[in-house]
Amino acid sequence: MMKHGKIPVWYDKDSEFEEIFHKDTTNERITNRTIEKILKKYKVKTVLDLTCGTGSQVFHLLKRGFKVTGSDISKGMLKIANRKAKQDKIKIRFLRGDMRTIQAGKFDAAITIFNAIGHLTKAGFSKAMRNIHRNLNEGGIYIFDILNLNYVLDKDNIMKMSMERMGSSGNIKVRELQHSIIDNDGILTSYTIFYTQKAKKTPKVSSKNIITLQLYTAEDLKKMLAKNGFKVIHQCAIDGSKFNGKKTERIVTIAKKK
Ligand SMILES: C[S@@+](CC[C@H](N)C(=O)[O-])C[C@H]1O[C@@H](n2cnc3c(N)ncnc32)[C@H](O)[C@@H]1O
Repeated sequence: MMKHGKIPVWYDKDSEFEEIFHKDTTNERITNRTIEKILKKYKVKTVLDLTCGTGSQVFHLLKRGFKVTGSDISKGMLKIANRKAKQDKIKIRFLRGDMRTIQAGKFDAAITIFNAIGHLTKAGFSKAMRNIHRNLNEGGIYIFDILNLNYVLDKDNIMKMSMERMGSSGNIKVRELQHSIIDNDGILTSYTIFYTQKAKKTPKVSSKNIITLQLYTAEDLKKMLAKNGFKVIHQCAIDGSKFNGKKTERIVTIAKKK
C-alpha cells in the first residue's frame, strides 16, 4: 500500500489519460464557473493556481480576464499545460513547485482545485496553508475544494462514487474504471485501471494505480484554517449551492487571510 502523503507519481505517468478524461467535462465546467463567480464576487484581479495540473482553471480564468499564474509539482501535467498554451498561442509561463513551499509572489487569490489538497497529509496541508498565506496580498482569499468526509462516510455514498468512463485519443480507445474505500482516519484509497485498445488490436491493461486522498469535514477545515492564519468566510457545494452537511459531496471553502 502506498504511504499517504507521497506525491503521486501517477500524475507524471498517466497525465495523458488524465487529459483525455478532463477535456471539457460537465464537472470541469461547473467547477470553473463556480470559481470564476467567487473570484468576481471578491473583486479578485490576480490569481495563483498552486495545483494547476494541465491548466483547467488557468486557461478558463485567463479567458475571463484574470491575471493568472499556474504552478504544479508534476512535470507530466505541466508538459501538457505548456503544450496547450502553445497550441492556443496563449502566453503563460508555468512554474514547477510544491504548494507547501513555492514562493511565486503576492496575489489577490490562491486556488487549489479538484481535491488537490487531499494528496497532502494533515500536517502537509497545514504547511501549505501557511505557505499560501505568504503568497497572498493583505486580505487575499484562498479557495479550494475537497470531498466531504461526512458525505463519503454516509450510507452507501462511497459506492455511488465508483466510476466507469470511456474516452479516446487519436485511434486509441481508453476505458477507465475506479472504485474506492475509506479508512477510519478519513483517508480515501482509490483503485484505478486504464484499459486501452489501439485500432483493432486486443485491449490491454495500460495502467493500474492506487491513489490516496485525505478527506475532511467542513468543520475540520474551519479549525485548521483558523490555526494557520485564515478565517473561513464561506463554504458551499461545487456548483455554488448552499453547503448541506452529509449531502454535499465536494466542499468549496473560501478563506480570507487574517
Ligand atoms: C486532481 S489534479 C487537479 C488539477 C487541476 N486543478 C484541475 O482541476 O484539473 C491535482 C493536482 O495537484 C498536483 N499536486 C499534488 N500534490 C502537489 C503539491 N504538493 N504541490 C503542488 N501540486 C501538487 C498534482 O500534480 C495534480 O496536478
